[in-house]
Amino acid sequence: MRFFVDTADVDAIRELNDLGMVDGVTTNPSLILKSGRDILEVTKEICSFISGPVSAEVVALKADEMIAEGRKLAEIAENIAVKVPLTWDGLKACKVLTGEGRMVNVTLCFSTNQALLAAKAGATFISPFIGRLDDINLDGLELISDIRQVYDNYGFETQILAASVRTLNHASQCALIGADVMTAPPSVIKAMANHVLTDKGLEQFMKDWAKTGQKIL
Ligand code: E4P
Repeated sequence: MRFFVDTADVDAIRELNDLGMVDGVTTNPSLILKSGRDILEVTKEICSFISGPVSAEVVALKADEMIAEGRKLAEIAENIAVKVPLTWDGLKACKVLTGEGRMVNVTLCFSTNQALLAAKAGATFISPFIGRLDDINLDGLELISDIRQVYDNYGFETQILAASVRTLNHASQCALIGADVMTAPPSVIKAMANHVLTDKGLEQFMKDWAKTGQKIL
């Protein structure tokens, strides 16, 4: 499973990228707000050191304007994936932009039917939001599993980009289900290294090592 980082924080992306943990980046208007930076400028900086897909989201609501914004965002770098919302206009924009050979990430997906439409419109990525479904007491991971089955049933090439990943369970289950990509905040990716038994075992090793009185260096 490929890892995209869900942030517009350049320093955080660099830190994970140096460890080989970054296969791409996703941003959205809320993450751009959080970064406090200009969308074109920060996206260009991210693309200067990330070679995988970098999602940049349109903010227009009408297809024609989404297409115009998508073309402008795609000019930033060759690895831009234009992010459009899963609305009827977003699907129209997806069809046109993918027809021009651009990568398109269809976002804000909350149902299998929406994912089916995105695949038929030629989406490169579909972004089902796990955490936001869990927030309203629905099962976000079940949606990932259902979309996997539907796409496999019919051989759709649209990649499942599991989004709104908030917990360690989300991450491991996405990998087990077979999501193509997971996008998660840096904090979740870093927390994947943690285990209480690792901490406990290390503590014991340190105590025993001190008792040996030895040094390696
Ligand atoms: C994905 O592309 C979105 O930016 C993101 O995963 C949303 O996550 P949130 O629901 O935690 O805001």
